[in-house]
Amino acid sequence: MSETPLDPVADLCALVGEPTLRAVVRAFYARIPGDALLGPLYPHGDLEGAEERLADFLVMRFGGSQRYMERRGHPRLRVRHAPFAIGSAERDRWVALMDAALDAQLPHAEARERARTFLHGVATFLVNAEG
Ligand code: HEM
Repeated sequence: MSETPLDPVADLCALVGEPTLRAVVRAFYARIPGDALLGPLYPHGDLEGAEERLADFLVMRFGGSQRYMERRGHPRLRVRHAPFAIGSAERDRWVALMDAALDAQLPHAEARERARTFLHGVATFLVNAEG
């Protein structure tokens, strides 16, 4: 994938490196077990697997390895999130945890803000419930 004005995140993996993206997701998942709102939604026996799935997805979406697609197939994120009731409270908490992870692990300010805009937009798109 190359960067185009229509896909402002396609160069992020090349720009900051896959280990940095994985560190962001690790920092995000480190906050999940202790989160009263989001913690209960996630599979506590397989948080490492969940971390790997989100990291693989972001690496792919940000122009890196296609491992997510090889392992999981098409992302279909609305379908995959359908089992979880995601209202504005859950969306806002997810975004807050991700913002903290980005601030802690992605020092490249311009890349961080583009990643943030993308992640906030997808989070809003995934809202599927009231509240
Ligand atoms: C809006 C708030 C969100 C909530 C409450 C939420 C919740 C969840 C939960 C509970 C899972 C299952 C964990 C697992 O076993 O993999 C999951 C998986 C996943 N989420 Fe989210 N999520 C949210 C937003 C997002 C966003 C913004 C993205 C992408 C930018 C995303 C990408 C993914 C991916 C790639 C998976 C793994 C899908 C798979 O291959 O099975 N999620 N999410």
